[in-house]
Amino acid sequence: MRHVMSPLDFSVEELGQILDLASDIEANPQKYAHACAGRKLATLFYEPSTRTRLSFEAAMLNLGGSVLGFSSADSSSAAKGESVSDTIRVISCYADIAAMRHPKEGAPLVASMKSGIPVINAGDGGHQHPTQTMTDLLTIRSLKGRLDNITVGICGDLKFGRTVHSLIEAMVRYPNVRFVLISPEELRIPDYVRDDVLRKNNQDFKEVTRLEDALPELDILYMTRVQKERFFNEEDYVRMKDFYILDKQKLTLAKPDMMVLHPLPRVNEISVEIDDDPRAAYFRQAQYGVYVRMALILTLLEVKVC
Ligand code: NCD
Repeated sequence: MRHVMSPLDFSVEELGQILDLASDIEANPQKYAHACAGRKLATLFYEPSTRTRLSFEAAMLNLGGSVLGFSSADSSSAAKGESVSDTIRVISCYADIAAMRHPKEGAPLVASMKSGIPVINAGDGGHQHPTQTMTDLLTIRSLKGRLDNITVGICGDLKFGRTVHSLIEAMVRYPNVRFVLISPEELRIPDYVRDDVLRKNNQDFKEVTRLEDALPELDILYMTRVQKERFFNEEDYVRMKDFYILDKQKLTLAKPDMMVLHPLPRVNEISVEIDDDPRAAYFRQAQYGVYVRMALILTLLEVKVC
């Protein structure tokens, strides 16, 4: 039995197979419509979510399976003080696979140790978000045709943004990827990502503050939201929240085929005026999230579709 806590739980080759499967699902959805008939997915969400929870649920429903779960800690026995370990032991009797989101870093890992079913980390605090990364990789590979030889700008809250940490960890494994990390001084990537991931892998990266300076060289611009819920005080959040706003005028500095990604939800960091620009790929990205989660569920449940 396999759990997924970080993108590194899969080798590059295995990830490639999951992305291939996701692309086949996109091309031939009917072929997979009953692949998980009789199987159940539990979504255990202790923190708000729209895309991740509903795309997991849509993924299982598209595979002919069923879903059960809760969408906030208040509506589960966590409110009575139950531990995630006890919860997952019980859920293991009700479902075949679980996706868990939790505000505490490492909570899905703790749950996986007592689980009788595969557990997928659907976001743990400011730490990791592997299925968003798989979505990002599928989007880049589908729309750009490659995951190597690429300059990726990541902009916004690089400190608390778990999607950022997972994306960097995953992309350092492809040849000739350059990172331009764009953030205010206070929201730079955590030391463990800089030292243990980027430096350790001799990765080509630079850290800058001005988006305008970075834009012309980027193939991908990955925008992120300032993570309000992880700030210790409101004042700091208010000071940071509108630090970057990508608008039509700034986009004129970008390559004509640069792609703009965002895990969503967006707040102010991307102006709605660029939503119709062909480079804006964030809503297509949300669609890819369903295909990749379908592929992940099939892989973890070891379901083969011929
Ligand atoms: C992200 C998350 O939850 O980390 N959202 C998502 O899953 N698509 C990004 C965010 O909340 O800013």
